[in-house]
Amino acid sequence: MLKKSMNFVVDFNTKALHWGYIPGQHQKCLSPPIYQNTAFEFSSIEEAEALNTGKLFGHIYTRISNPTNEILESRVSALEGGISSIACASGHAAQFLVISTLLQAGDHIISSPYLYGGTYHQFKEQLPRLGIKVDFADPNNPSQVASKINNKTKLIYAESLGNPELNPVNIEALATVAHANKLPLVIDNTLGCCGYLIKPIRMGADIVISSLTKWAGGHGNAVGGIITDSGNFEWGNGTFPQFKEANSAYKGLSFWDEYGFGGPGCQRNRIPFYKNIAFSTRLRLEHLRDWGPCISPFNSYLILQGIETLGLRVERACHNALAIAKVLCNHESTQNTRYPGLENDKYHSIANQIMTNGYGTIITFELKDGYDAAAMLVNSLLIFKHAANIGDSKSLVLHPASTTHSQLSEKEQLDSGVTPSMIRLSIGIEGERDLIEDLEQGLNKVRHTYSNRSSG
Ligand SMILES: Cc1ncc(COP(=O)(O)O)c(C=O)c1O
Repeated sequence: MLKKSMNFVVDFNTKALHWGYIPGQHQKCLSPPIYQNTAFEFSSIEEAEALNTGKLFGHIYTRISNPTNEILESRVSALEGGISSIACASGHAAQFLVISTLLQAGDHIISSPYLYGGTYHQFKEQLPRLGIKVDFADPNNPSQVASKINNKTKLIYAESLGNPELNPVNIEALATVAHANKLPLVIDNTLGCCGYLIKPIRMGADIVISSLTKWAGGHGNAVGGIITDSGNFEWGNGTFPQFKEANSAYKGLSFWDEYGFGGPGCQRNRIPFYKNIAFSTRLRLEHLRDWGPCISPFNSYLILQGIETLGLRVERACHNALAIAKVLCNHESTQNTRYPGLENDKYHSIANQIMTNGYGTIITFELKDGYDAAAMLVNSLLIFKHAANIGDSKSLVLHPASTTHSQLSEKEQLDSGVTPSMIRLSIGIEGERDLIEDLEQGLNKVRHTYSNRSSG
């Protein structure tokens, strides 16, 4: 928490620098220390028992919580506008932890098909192996989503800005469908940059997931993920009996009775009466503990350092991206340049409704001359590095069909917005002129090659 006198802070950049950390509690270190530590000393048998039965919060073992990880968790909660967060090993681990906390074999998810390829694969291949069925529906078509709900459905899932379809989702409309059916809305806000570009909780999302590997860390040196609980969903509404039931691992604790709205656990932890921490507490104490995908404190430290400049980096990269998208639109070798900031983009008006501070840093486009031309461009770029990542300070280029989405069939690729000659750019914070120059030299090489072929 900030000092009491700093509670007036509302600005994203101020929170990104200070929230969740008081130097006076850490030997006055101005930079959050790395608690590279496995286990924590108990003060007494009584305290050990209270900690291990879920009646007292405190650090026991780094697989469950750790002081450096806790600073990261508080900071992201503040940026996303949630009540609590749990950091974990990766974005994919965050998705899995949410699903394992809420579903079991026989249950059902409705998801947007516009997903990162790895997520699509997790949903389509891995979850069915665990007995969980996923149906896909257009997130901006609430009646299509509603028509797929059945009595086994446990959540609705979408990326706030799909990767790589770049479709901003009408989160409010989707939340209305979910809540009318007593279901939580889970949003992957990786491309929403921890709330700098998109604030899903404000628009009705119940749980937000992010891959911190991307913009939050921002320097391509740490893999991590996080789950943020809005604190708004009523887990005791009948859809999730596991929250009410006495938990055998915690001496009969009912997570909803203890950590639901106004419960004793909420009171002890000064949670306002209109918020609850049943979901996040159960996820940490049961699922992070039992499945084990915790984040290393060193990665939390690196990501915290990245978050300090998240707003500034994204602001600059968005500015670069808009300028580059305009250049790409006008080049004779390209077609279907997609960027939500372009006035003629099919998602421009929904982007204006849900995005703040910019339209993101990802651009996609196709080469008119197909797959080989796309390969030639990727091989010709000098500043843009060819890598399967996004959200790095350095600009990156990728051909999704042969990389991130290669596990999918051609139809599945098309369903998730990937075409054979599509190129994805993740724009960094280099000088705008240099990035444009690099793209122009690469595209001109493609143009010369293919115009010579067609005239030869
Ligand atoms: C939107 C989105 N969600 C989740 C992930 C998975 O994150 P991680 O690589 O940290 O597991 C990615 C990775 O690219 C992503 O783009």
